[in-house]
Amino acid sequence: MDDQPKKLFICDNIDCRSRGSLELADEIQRLLDDDPDGGEVELEEYTCFGGCDIGPNMIVYPDRAWYCGVTEADVPELVENLTGRGPRLERLETADRTTAGFILNILDAGGWGSF
Ligand code: FES
Repeated sequence: MDDQPKKLFICDNIDCRSRGSLELADEIQRLLDDDPDGGEVELEEYTCFGGCDIGPNMIVYPDRAWYCGVTEADVPELVENLTGRGPRLERLETADRTTAGFILNILDAGGWGSF
């Protein structure tokens, strides 16, 4: 699983968007574009994970890591993780288990694109 290229789902729905999710996505993509290890990482917008009050929300797949309240300060560390050089950002995994399990199971089943 660790050798599989990572995919970052970024919530683009209204609450996460109002907290800057799209600007964070742009910055992550910019850093990946400049990174020799960033070429295989894919970003995809996702319309709501159901955790609207704890965003901006992002999920790293196949790691099944849901990061809540991501800020600009977290972006460099997130890129390190996406490129396989850095550890999981466990401090950002604050979603409740029920909601996270529901969404992660949808992603496991290939339900990518929207919720
Ligand atoms: S608006 Fe982002 S989780 Fe719902």
